[in-house]
Order: sequence, then structure tokens, then C-alpha cells
Amino acid sequence: MSFEVTLKVRRYSKEKGSWWQEYKLNVDRFTTVVEALRRIKTEQDPTLSFRASCHMGVCGSCGMKINGKPKLACKTLIVNEGKKEITIEPMDNFPVIKDLIVDLDSVYRKMNKVIPRVTPPEEVIQGKAETRLKPEDQKELWSFAQCIICGLCYSACPVVETNKDFLGPAVLAMVYRFSADPRDTLGKKRLEIVDDPIIGIWNCRVAGSCSVVCPRNVDPSLAIQRLKEVSMK
Ligand code: FES
Repeated sequence: MSFEVTLKVRRYSKEKGSWWQEYKLNVDRFTTVVEALRRIKTEQDPTLSFRASCHMGVCGSCGMKINGKPKLACKTLIVNEGKKEITIEPMDNFPVIKDLIVDLDSVYRKMNKVIPRVTPPEEVIQGKAETRLKPEDQKELWSFAQCIICGLCYSACPVVETNKDFLGPAVLAMVYRFSADPRDTLGKKRLEIVDDPIIGIWNCRVAGSCSVVCPRNVDPSLAIQRLKEVSMK
């Protein structure tokens, strides 16, 4: 059974600035927000811009604010929003490029700063030794390794809103993921980076909104508190 919804989209272009635009669409209970946007683009307005690739919560490209909350559009069913009018806006705390597309460069730059890869000892690199990941170690770091860098946690973070240099939830969760990995040798170096009073862990006010909005249950808030414990030790 189909029903009509109104999608109120916050649009933006460099030339015109920002404005709200309404689109009406017949949808059914299986229609996701990203499908609705794609149909609007194909059937009504080819100028509407948004990002989406995988349509299955894996690529992290369809982050946007839906009815005021940061969500993945491909994982949001319109029927679950419980409203006949749905507002769709670009994520907060990022510069808007066009309509619902934001610039995630700041997150990528912060991620590069913490060297986001396992760096094993020299003997392992040369093939003279091996380090193994025990199941219990993998269990500890597994959930923190599920980040798809969608940016939702940055959109929800009240600290990022006021301190653009703060490394932020996803990057700090990634740092914890490596600090919990016994194969890695850069723990101390990364800890020095995240201990920085301006960009580091001590700026987190434990609002927890990052963990609430994460579509992959990463729990960056917990990762940051664990990093604080490691740093104290
Ligand atoms: Fe890939 Fe939504 S389109 S996560």
C-alpha cells in the first residue's frame, strides 16, 4: 500500500545560498530516504544533489540529518519516521558543498594525523617473525574497527561544533582500535598525539551523542574513555 509524503529538503548552492524546497512523493513501507531522493532526482528535479553509493549501510556516503537527527539515508525507512512530512538537511559541523553534500576533508585530515594503520615491528615487516592476534584481542578491538567514516558522529558532537580542531569521535575510536591491537608498535606515538590539550581526548565532554547516532554501533564515546584510562596509566 502506498502513501504520500512531503520531503522538505534544505538545499544550498554557492550562487543562491540556502533555501527549503518541498517535494511530494508516493512511497511504500519499503522506501528508504535515499530511494525517495533518487526518485525525486530522476522524476522531478535533476538539480537535487546528494551522495549515496552502496545503498546498504557500508560505504558511509549518505549521511544527512533526517527529521533533525544525523542518520544514514539508506538505512532510514520513511515509514519508520512516523510522519507525513520529513525534513532532510545536510549534516551539521561540515561545510556544505551543494544541497545535501558536505565536505568531509577535515575528518580525513584528522585521520591521517593519527597514522590509521597497523604498524608491526621491523622483524615482522622483514618476514623474520610473526605476531598473532588472539581471539580475545580481536573481540576487544572488533567493534571499534567497524567505522565507515560516514561523519554522523561529527555532526552530532557538541565539542566539534565549538572546536574544529578536536580530533573527534571516529578518529579517536580508530586510535583506540590500534592501541588495543597487540600487533601494533605505534601506541606511544599515537597516545602523544591524542593527549594534546587542544585536539585530544581531554576535550571530550562525554555527551555520548556520537555513540547514539553511530550506524555501526562503534561506541566512540567508550573508546575515548578507554583512551583516557590508557593515558592515565
Ligand atoms: Fe552507502 Fe548509505 S549509500 S552507506
